[in-house]
Amino acid sequence: MAVDDESGSGEAAAGPGVTRWIDPNPTELAAVTADPHLGEVVVGAEALARRIAELGAEISADYADTPVLLVGVLKGAFMFMADLSRAIDLPVEFDFMAVASYGNATKSSGVVRIVKDLDVDLSGRHVLIVEDIIDSGLTLAYLRKNLLARHPASVEVCALLVRDGLQKSDPDLRYVGFRIPPEFVVGYGLDVAERYRGLPFIATYQEDAT
Ligand code: IMP
Ligand code: MG
Repeated sequence: MAVDDESGSGEAAAGPGVTRWIDPNPTELAAVTADPHLGEVVVGAEALARRIAELGAEISADYADTPVLLVGVLKGAFMFMADLSRAIDLPVEFDFMAVASYGNATKSSGVVRIVKDLDVDLSGRHVLIVEDIIDSGLTLAYLRKNLLARHPASVEVCALLVRDGLQKSDPDLRYVGFRIPPEFVVGYGLDVAERYRGLPFIATYQEDAT
């Protein structure tokens, strides 16, 4: 069983420590038990909803007088983007980008290929990049540089997950959902070989399950 965070309250960890989030309901526990590839529930659906409501309120306050364009990074961020946008009490606009890393499946090379580019012109726009997970930070560093070259008024980042301690470049994240331990996770948009994106919660994935 996972250890709870210090506060035990399900609130975001304030310090630099790695926090394991557990708030699994019986359905989620049954789902990870039934699938040998799923380990533990890292963030349950209820904790996701609570935290996303907080992020939405924060973004609503920060952008109250500023029209914001949400830029979702496909495919991983699609579910987070859908829920986050409904938690933002402002008339936001949407666009999406799809990127592919040239690295191998589990390690980012930092060399990124744009598979689908944005439709809208970013000049003078306030952009909020919506990402699923920051691992090395290399994908985000590339994206930020690429978008900044299009002369937006501002570029900020909202990442649902940050895998602690592995960032090679300073990711400068304005909004973070959860800092998670250094384990591969799936669910809530995140996949392994296109599987598990539809899980309504986030769980660890173990390849060599017996
Ligand atoms: P980075 O460039 O190393 O920060 O990698 C970020 C990207 O790798 C994310 O946008 C995800 O698409 C993918 N990724 C990193 N860690 C995970 C994981 O635990 N599960 C699923 N995808 C991941
Ligand atoms: Mg991604």
